[in-house]
Amino acid sequence: MPSVVVVGAQWGDEGKGKVTDFLARQADVVVRYQGGSNAGHTVHVNDQEFRLHLVPSGILYPGTICVIGNGVVVDPGALVSELDHLESRGVDTSGLRISDRAHVIFPYHHLLDAAEEDQKGQLRIGTTRRGIGPSYADKAARIGLRMADLLDWPLFEELVTRNLQAKNNLLSKVYGLPTVDPGEILDNYRQYAERLRPYITDTSLLVNNALDRGQSVVFEGAQGTMLDIDHGTYPYVTSSHPTAGGACIGAGIGPTRVDVVVGVVKAYTSRVGDGPFPTELTDELGNWLRDRGGEYGTTTGRPRRVGWLDAVALRYAVRVSGIDGIAITKLDVLSGLDVLKIAVGYQYQGEVLTEVPASAAVMYRCEPVYEEMAGFRESLQDVRSMDGLPAAARAYLQRIEELLGVPIVLVSIGSERAQTFPVKDLFAVRRAVTGL
Ligand code: IMP
Repeated sequence: MPSVVVVGAQWGDEGKGKVTDFLARQADVVVRYQGGSNAGHTVHVNDQEFRLHLVPSGILYPGTICVIGNGVVVDPGALVSELDHLESRGVDTSGLRISDRAHVIFPYHHLLDAAEEDQKGQLRIGTTRRGIGPSYADKAARIGLRMADLLDWPLFEELVTRNLQAKNNLLSKVYGLPTVDPGEILDNYRQYAERLRPYITDTSLLVNNALDRGQSVVFEGAQGTMLDIDHGTYPYVTSSHPTAGGACIGAGIGPTRVDVVVGVVKAYTSRVGDGPFPTELTDELGNWLRDRGGEYGTTTGRPRRVGWLDAVALRYAVRVSGIDGIAITKLDVLSGLDVLKIAVGYQYQGEVLTEVPASAAVMYRCEPVYEEMAGFRESLQDVRSMDGLPAAARAYLQRIEELLGVPIVLVSIGSERAQTFPVKDLFAVRRAVTGL
């Protein structure tokens, strides 16, 4: 298996962890390329549930190298807790590698994230308050600290002290909040540095060497296309690039090294946090879907907003990430409905839009134009192939393929590993498209 990028095609929480886990079986290296501990992946293995935030889900396969790429922002305290937790459950974490160029999150990033959100009031983004935005802002402002700095203690101490002066001014004078104690930060980060030191390396070199050797590499995106800072519903987005292009920047590889892009699509839509969501269901049906799908945040526990599938947003995701094949997840959740709806356009001021508008203000005012299809009531619990699906479920999937113009390559109908099955050969699909 060559190199595959796995991207979320919606607003995150599509079930990327499950798909990466499926592909990781054959992978030598799994790379997380953006985001931070705002993400959460739930993977079930032999009746055990693992909730991962920063560590790539490939860690559950012994011998797989798992990389936290340079595009990730690392909260070292959160990472150390995650490693301790995995180790206490018998997971071997020796395959982890952390990029020496990944940026470090500090407690002041968390405080500023919360302060900025509180100040925005009604216009808040609904962030996870994990310090993601402020830490990427420091990276762009060229005052961020990286994992390599953590290993150079005198320099680290000096830079943290410099940053803290400015951040404490901001916290106290702009937001009227208590300041952060430099001594406490330095004590904690010195311990994190020692604990994480063995894992920190030049991961771009590692990944490129693996590709040169013909090894298979899975690049795992966090969040989803519609939360991308450039292509998402700005400003209601995260501060990184969950789209496929983000894999190149965030892992340190060239675009020529990516063989296939898989887009993960939940059979309906969900969104956490604020921002436009044209197909949102705010009625009883929405509550039913949320409960049936267990749509509560892995990281924050927040109830997710849920709604019908949105083919306008999905076609856009296929375009901006060059998606070759789709992995459909949580199809089982829809069982029990007589009618299924798919948005195929947005009604806006008397016109039907077939592309995602740039302005969130416009998108807020869009009304979905739905196509209706027959639903299904059968349980999908024991289905292990496309042929085993009820005819109405197959028709729903076929319609998704037609609307998006890309084939479905994987289907998942439950949280167990065995409940994700291949439909088409990913690489045959790619060869058919490229002729290579
Ligand atoms: P931030 O990434 O914490 O700054 O949050 C920005 C937006 O992205 C908010 O709407 C969050 O709810 C959303 N978000 C961040 N991480 C995830 C995720 O893993 N799944 C779904 N939404 C997310």
